[in-house]
Amino acid sequence: MKNLLIAGGAGFIGSNFIKHLLSNYDYNIYNLDKLTYAGNLKNLDNIKNDKRYHFIKGDICDRQLLGKIFDDYNIHIVVNFAAESHVDRSIEDPEVFSKTNILGTQALMDTAKRYWKVKPYDRYCREYKDGVKYIQISTDEVYGSLGITGKFTEENPVSPNSPYSASKASADMIVRAYYETYCFPIIITRCSNNYGPYQFPEKLVPLMINNALKEKPLPIYGDGKQVRDWIFVKDHCTAIDTVLHKGKLGEVYNIGGNNERENIQIVKLLLNYLGKSEQLIAYVRDRLGHDRRYSIDNTKISTELGWFPSYTFEKGLEETIKWYLDNQEWMDEIVSGDYIMYYEQMYSTSF
Ligand code: NAD
Ligand code: TYD
Repeated sequence: MKNLLIAGGAGFIGSNFIKHLLSNYDYNIYNLDKLTYAGNLKNLDNIKNDKRYHFIKGDICDRQLLGKIFDDYNIHIVVNFAAESHVDRSIEDPEVFSKTNILGTQALMDTAKRYWKVKPYDRYCREYKDGVKYIQISTDEVYGSLGITGKFTEENPVSPNSPYSASKASADMIVRAYYETYCFPIIITRCSNNYGPYQFPEKLVPLMINNALKEKPLPIYGDGKQVRDWIFVKDHCTAIDTVLHKGKLGEVYNIGGNNERENIQIVKLLLNYLGKSEQLIAYVRDRLGHDRRYSIDNTKISTELGWFPSYTFEKGLEETIKWYLDNQEWMDEIVSGDYIMYYEQMYSTSF
C-alpha cells in the first residue's frame, strides 16, 4: 500500500481528489491542511472514518512538521493542492500568496528530497525504483491571457498577470528547477477553471448560485465577456489520477474541459436552471488586470496518456447545481461566518 501526502486536501479540489482516490485505490492518505478560510473538514465528512484516511492540521511552510510527517508515515507520493487560490484576494493582499504558494511548495520539495534521498544521478532516468514522486497542482493562469483565438499548449511561455498566477508560476519554475538540478521526481499539471461540489463561494459558479438562491444581485465584472475554459472537478480528479499513475517525470500536462464560455453565458445558464430572473444580474467595476480569455489544448495528456474529459458542461453544471440545492446547510454555514466581512469588503463599492 502506498502512503500519499495530499497537501491542501480540505479545499475544493483536494477533497474531491481524496474521495476519488479512496474509491479507486487502497492507498493510505495523509491530508495536511492549514484550514484557512477555504479549508473545510465538512468537505470530507463522508470519509472521515475510513481507516486509510488521516488528517493533520498544519502549514506546508512548517519544515519541522513536514519532516515529522515524512519520518512517521514513510511518504511515497506528494500531491500539492495547498495554495491561496483566489485572484481577487491576491489583488487585495498578495503577500500570503507568495508565502504559501512559493515557499510552501519549496518546503514540501526540500523535505521530500531529503527523505527520498534524491540524488542528481541520471539525466535520462524517468522513474525512481520505489515510484516516489511529487505532483504540483498548478493552473492555466500561469500562461497569462489569450486573444480571441489560440489555445495554451505546454510550450506556451509562462506570463502571469495577477499576484495569484505569478505565485503559481514562480512555484512552477522552482519545481521545474528541482527536476533539472537534482532529478527530483516531479510532474506539473496546469488545469483550467474547475466547478463542482464543495467549491468555496468566492468563485464564480458557487457565488452566483448562492446569490441567485437568496435573490441578491449577481456581480458581473466589466462586460462579462471574459472567457474561461470550464472543467467539472471530477474530470480534473481523473486527469490527476492519470498523471500520477502514467505521467512522465519532468513533464508538464495541461488539463481542460473543452468548454469555453463567457462569464455572462454561465450566469444566464445558472439563472435559467434555478428559475430566477435575469434582472438579478448587476454589471460592476472590472477586476484589476483581468485576464480576458483562457483556453486549454488537451492534446498532450489525451494522446500521450489517454485521458479525456467525460462530462459535458451541461451535465456537470446540472450535477453541481443539484449538489448546492441539496447541501444548502454547507453553504449557509460558510456564508454566515467571516464570509460576510469578505463579501462586504470585496463588493460593497461595486453596487
Ligand atoms: P481551495 O482554496 O479551495 O483550497 C486550498 C486548500 O489549501 C484549503 O483547504 C486551504 O486550507 C489549504 N491551504 C492554504 N494554505 C495552506 C498552507 N499554508 N498549508 C497547508 N494548507 C493550506 O483551492 P482549490 O480550488 O481546491 O485549488 C487547489 C489547487 O488547485 C490550488 O493549488 C490551485 O492553484 C489549483 N487550481 C485550482 C483551480 C480552480 O479552478 N479552483 C484550477 C486550476 C488549478
Ligand atoms: P473566478 O471564479 O474567480 O476564477 P478565475 O479568476 O481564477 O478565473 O472567476 C471566473 C471569472 O468570473 C473571472 O473572469 C472573473 C469573473 N467573476 C465575476 O464576473 N464576478 C464575480 O463575482 C466573480 C467571483 C468572478
